Amino acid sequence: DKADIAVTGLATMGRNLARNLARNGHTVAVHNRTRKRTDSLIAEYSGEGNFIACESLADVVRSLKRPRKVIVMVQAGAGTDEVIDQLAELLEPGDILVDGGNAHFIDTRRRESALRERGLHFVGTGISGGEEGALNGPSIMPGGTAEAYKTLGPILESISAQVDGTPCCTHVGADGAGHFVKMVHNGIEYADMQLIGESYDLLRTVLGKTPDELAEIFRTWNTGDLESFLIEITAEVLAAKDPRGGEGAFVDKVLDQTEQKGTGRWTVQIALDLGTPVSGIAEAVFARSVSGHAEQRDAARGVLEGPSEPSEKVAVDNADQFVEDVRRALYASKVVAYAQGFDMIRAGAEAYDWNIDLGAMATIWRGGCIIRARFLDRIREAYEKTPDLPSLLVDPYFARTVNEGQEAWRRVVATAAAAGVPVPGFGAALSYFDALRRDRLPAALLQGLRDLFGAHTYRRTDAEGSFHLEWSGDRSEREA
Ligand code: 6PG
Repeated sequence: DKADIAVTGLATMGRNLARNLARNGHTVAVHNRTRKRTDSLIAEYSGEGNFIACESLADVVRSLKRPRKVIVMVQAGAGTDEVIDQLAELLEPGDILVDGGNAHFIDTRRRESALRERGLHFVGTGISGGEEGALNGPSIMPGGTAEAYKTLGPILESISAQVDGTPCCTHVGADGAGHFVKMVHNGIEYADMQLIGESYDLLRTVLGKTPDELAEIFRTWNTGDLESFLIEITAEVLAAKDPRGGEGAFVDKVLDQTEQKGTGRWTVQIALDLGTPVSGIAEAVFARSVSGHAEQRDAARGVLEGPSEPSEKVAVDNADQFVEDVRRALYASKVVAYAQGFDMIRAGAEAYDWNIDLGAMATIWRGGCIIRARFLDRIREAYEKTPDLPSLLVDPYFARTVNEGQEAWRRVVATAAAAGVPVPGFGAALSYFDALRRDRLPAALLQGLRDLFGAHTYRRTDAEGSFHLEWSGDRSEREA
């Protein structure tokens, strides 16, 4: 019998994806550059379904039904091009090549257009959910042609997470759209994690809570609006003890420098090009960088001053009230991060001519992925009701949420400043909220400065056109 689909690259993600496919009744051809991984997959899991072990990519191609479908699960980068080039030589027009790694969408666009010329479908696909998701149901974000999705889609939908009977997988849009949306997903993931980190730092520093107590707070938060995978695992990480023994908390033994593989940074780089202010994501990426600058931190410690005992200097009369304030600030800031992320998807769709349904993106993020959260249902509803919503923040539900939370949010940011706790995520989100809602921004003054030093011109509130003021002359205004 021939295989329905193939997976090449059997590191953890590839192997779990292959098992997920087999468990769901698909016959899966499996291949890895070194044979050992293929053998161990077959030895351990052949009972889970139908696998066909392949020695080479030529074997893979021979073993497949047409149109052939091959999922490439190699680490993003140069290795991907190599495998794709080899497969492109072997595949025939109409066949479908899927890249399931975290590739940059610009690379995906390049690869898609090269393979399209050869009659092949190249489907850059975002897959989120880590090892666990790959095995039990990830969120899947495929790009490429609608034609490829017709045959590939049902297979992917059968292995994705399901929420209320709806698969967490849909055709995102042409060429690199799937990888673009996965990139923004990861940017939001960075922002979400940064905000959680700030909440933890504040509660610990200002209220002096222990990691165990904090785990309990996050557990409680996970029963309300904030319910999400990341809040759930925060409780788990905070409750963990040092695996080397003793009563010490695991979190206190971990070096406080956050690493990154690049998807968050890409999000910000592209956002700069698109002109979308994803300030929440940007602050999260920069906060990781700051944490990693160990030499600067060593040099500054003891030189730069701050409140020595924040919990004594900052009067918080009611600890429970402060916990509730932080919860509200976290939720409001999180809403801002998602609002900015969805704005970026809209901007990307416009720039690259993709037809992306924002409500559908919220729908496929409800399960399987790292940012899965209860409130994505609200985002789905918001975009289903008003597809051209100018900002998620003006949707009635979200407007009410941020409006009701704004006083708490301001108290938290002020308390953080007084206590010397860095809150770039909370601060950036609150500033964005205020910038959107203000009648007038100091942008007018900046326009004046630009016109004075460089004759860059300005527009008026009460007349059409662009103008320049003769700053060094008679100060008259002329049309530019
Ligand atoms: C996912 C994750 C995954 C990646 C993380 C970690 O959606 O399953 O996003 O793709 O493991 O993004 O990325 P960093 O190493 O950059 O934190």
